[in-house]
Amino acid sequence: MSQLSSKHVIGIEHLTLDDIQLILNTATQFKEIINRPIKKVPTLRDITIANLFFENSTRTRISFELAQKRLSADVINFSSSSSSVKKGETLLDTVNNILSMKVDMIVMRHPSPGAAHYLSDRIDAHIVNAGDGTHEHPTQALLDAYSMQEKLGSLKGKKIAIIGDIMHSRVALSNIFCLKKLGAEVTLCGPPTLIPKHIQSLGVNISHHVEETLQWCDVANILRIQLERQNTKYFPSLREYALYYGVNRQRLDKLSKEIVIMHPGPINRGVEITSDVADSEHSIILDQVENGVAIRMAVMYLLVNKTD
Ligand code: CP
Repeated sequence: MSQLSSKHVIGIEHLTLDDIQLILNTATQFKEIINRPIKKVPTLRDITIANLFFENSTRTRISFELAQKRLSADVINFSSSSSSVKKGETLLDTVNNILSMKVDMIVMRHPSPGAAHYLSDRIDAHIVNAGDGTHEHPTQALLDAYSMQEKLGSLKGKKIAIIGDIMHSRVALSNIFCLKKLGAEVTLCGPPTLIPKHIQSLGVNISHHVEETLQWCDVANILRIQLERQNTKYFPSLREYALYYGVNRQRLDKLSKEIVIMHPGPINRGVEITSDVADSEHSIILDQVENGVAIRMAVMYLLVNKTD
């Protein structure tokens, strides 16, 4: 198989295992290219891509733009705060106006779950979801899987813990879909109030004991406490969260084995993870960011090269 099954990348839920493996394998070729002295290829020379960010981003926005530039695409960056969205223009009108200027692909981050799916039903251009509310963040899960594979080889049977604010995390949901499709065992760990009811139906284990979870896993993917999405109190204080669920050096030192530490960023240092863990030899947090460029190059390249 050398083509994606879909003309959009909206979520990992809708990608096949073949799609995921094709993206990961293609990313390896692009990673080799972007580590050469000349990092740029003419692959998307005639393609124009608009990056529509309706929500803040550092890593994803810069990573997509860099990936587009490495592929020689023309790039338009749209920020909702300085646009006519502020005057009441709808999402669909905004996107249709941008597309009428001969744009081929939309990369979109939006606070509403389902926003990318809504667009994909209404426009012809390729859509890449760069994060839709608490729903999915597919390229983050792909770069996470790629980074885990670089460290551990095949993920089949590997034990992956996702620790933290599962309830408000699009990264958690995309990671669960991706890791399960790749054959990994997944445990979600956090306070009961931050783990959605019925999420076990996705085939994951649940734990409320961070030390047991760290001892069980090969990889701990630690998630940010998303205070901006919490309109109620899910735990008494950040201090108590750090005390009961924070990953710190003392907890790692108690383990009888080494584990890989990951975090999608941005990090709340001293809350879900301490600096001595985030910056330790076990951490691959900056490898995740580096791999994000190759993954996004692969996704956009494969979408443009999909025929029919
Ligand atoms: N990991 C991630 O999505 O980071 P940004 O919000 O900075 O893009």
